[in-house]
Amino acid sequence: MNYNKKTVKDIDVKGKKVLCRCDFNVPQDKATGAITDDKRIRAALPTLNYLLEQGAAVIACSHLGKPKGEWKEKLTLAPVAARLSELLGKEVIFAKDMIGEDAKAKAAALQPGQIMLLENLRFDIGEEKNHGDFAKALADMAEVYVSDAFGTVHRAHASTAGVAAYLPAVSGFLIGKELDIMGKALDDPKRPFVAVLGGAKVSDKINVINNLLEKADTIIIGGGMAYTFKMAQGHTIGKSLLEADKIDYAKDMMKKAEEKGVQFLLPSDNLCAAEFSADAKPVSVGDDIPEDLMGMDIGPKTIEAFSAAVKGAGTVVWNGPMGVFEFDAFAGGTRAMAKALAESGAITIVGGGDSAAAVEQLGFAEKMTHISTGGGASLEFLEGKELPGVACLLDR
Ligand code: 3PG
Repeated sequence: MNYNKKTVKDIDVKGKKVLCRCDFNVPQDKATGAITDDKRIRAALPTLNYLLEQGAAVIACSHLGKPKGEWKEKLTLAPVAARLSELLGKEVIFAKDMIGEDAKAKAAALQPGQIMLLENLRFDIGEEKNHGDFAKALADMAEVYVSDAFGTVHRAHASTAGVAAYLPAVSGFLIGKELDIMGKALDDPKRPFVAVLGGAKVSDKINVINNLLEKADTIIIGGGMAYTFKMAQGHTIGKSLLEADKIDYAKDMMKKAEEKGVQFLLPSDNLCAAEFSADAKPVSVGDDIPEDLMGMDIGPKTIEAFSAAVKGAGTVVWNGPMGVFEFDAFAGGTRAMAKALAESGAITIVGGGDSAAAVEQLGFAEKMTHISTGGGASLEFLEGKELPGVACLLDR
């Protein structure tokens, strides 16, 4: 895939109406609706500030949650407009609809240096279905399209891809940075290139493993998905997570790694528990897990081996926790890997979603080269898939 895309710096935006797709899909408190983490709003600021400083009139837009074409008051972007206004230090005009009379009138009246935010795009089914008339109506309000929503580049929706058929389309700084860092890590990594993969399910990571087997020098597997690989090796895994239909796949992957000379590291000891609970008593177990226990985290020998592999790396990409890090007693493996990455001196890239949450929660965020703002998007990037929200942008 070509990552060399035009950015806001390659296009004249002065005095123009610019439709800027952001990823303002922020977590909210279920009871109060308050934004609990504004990282994604902050991540959009460099591009929005640049556009405003250049004298553009900015029509920002985003989705929030999954309303599936229904108008759901709980998923209004009004709280995002308020937070964005605080962060920018200027008024953010809020449209009560997306392509309706209010949005059109406010967009028409918008002056250079002013910013407005449309209501949640997914209140209209045309957004997710990528309906041409919805995309065109968005485009009709503007003269230039800037996409800075890295978190949604894996979606072929009206505002993430469809609109590019009607307007000159360039990336903002956030997408530019994500493509630069992750693209380089995959295409021309500083070696050794180590991939650390975790999380609950093998099935979520199949395409990532396939793609990284072609590129990485070492693949480290931890988290719940490791037990399917251990089973494939002939070990007992007790009550641990297992995807029985993926055992053959796991065998194939290990064989392929051997053929390609890719080091494939699996846990050699485990921290287990009798039940899946925060208060469960941790039990140290070796390579084989007894019937009545389940693996909840990697053990000390494994931590040592995984950390040693990371220590000598030139590039490390990490996606997925090593254990049940939400439970303090089983966060040790994930914490140790975060520490190993932080101290490695390597280029360290952490995928969004759970891995980003773990690194932040455990206090290592500042020490990483890059933490992706995309969950599903960074995963699909690591899978080597074409991302519709990137493919639609103008080539350099
Ligand atoms: C995300 O949170 O990963 C992005 O905003 C995409 O959201 P979606 O999975 O609802 O498309």
